Amino acid sequence: MLIAANWKMFKGPREAAAFLDEFAPPEGVDVVVCPPYASLQAAVGRGLPIYAQNVHWEAEGAFTGEVSAPMLLELGVEGSIVGHSERRQYFGENDETVARRTAAALEAGLHVIACVGELEEERERGETEAVLRRQVSVLEAHERLVVAYEPVWAIGTGKTATPELAQEAHALIKSLLAVPVLYGGSVKPENAVELLAQPDVDGALVGGASLEPVSLEAICRAAASLS
Ligand code: PGA
Repeated sequence: MLIAANWKMFKGPREAAAFLDEFAPPEGVDVVVCPPYASLQAAVGRGLPIYAQNVHWEAEGAFTGEVSAPMLLELGVEGSIVGHSERRQYFGENDETVARRTAAALEAGLHVIACVGELEEERERGETEAVLRRQVSVLEAHERLVVAYEPVWAIGTGKTATPELAQEAHALIKSLLAVPVLYGGSVKPENAVELLAQPDVDGALVGGASLEPVSLEAICRAAASLS
């Protein structure tokens, strides 16, 4: 079971270090933390694997505002999220750039958490399966690749997919690509057990509830109790 903490644009270097010094994950669960770029260096070396939240496909070049896999590896960063819905919604990320980022990061030696998930209107129109098939089709199975299913309508909204709905999407994704699949979207200590107990849910990508050590620890304990 893997629990990944996505801190988004929260926690500068001081707060990131303080969190990691206080955080005590239970045995029996893998935990990774994804701080913003500016806090990666402060987070590395404090006991947990550290992932970035995005990574470019080129090793270097004229790409203002981007960071490459070799740069992350040099810092001691072990992986990256790719294709988060906030990147897709606000920063023009698309299936093609997700594919390029993912392939380059894996090639360079990073782990990747590639995010997929449908918008609320896509679900209402009955397009969930088609959207997931399209988003997953650009990825290739790899031993360091994990997919995160994050229905966009459930991210940061307090609306969680029902365990049955999550299970259905996870089973579809796994039928397309043989990799572990994390669930993401308003995962909290109160709903973690029922989501993580689904047979094709292999862990969680946690945003809001990962910002406090106590709530992230509670989610990690829920995962450990099911392992
Ligand atoms: P949330 O975010 O847990 O705050 O809904 C999850 C994510 O966006 O990865």
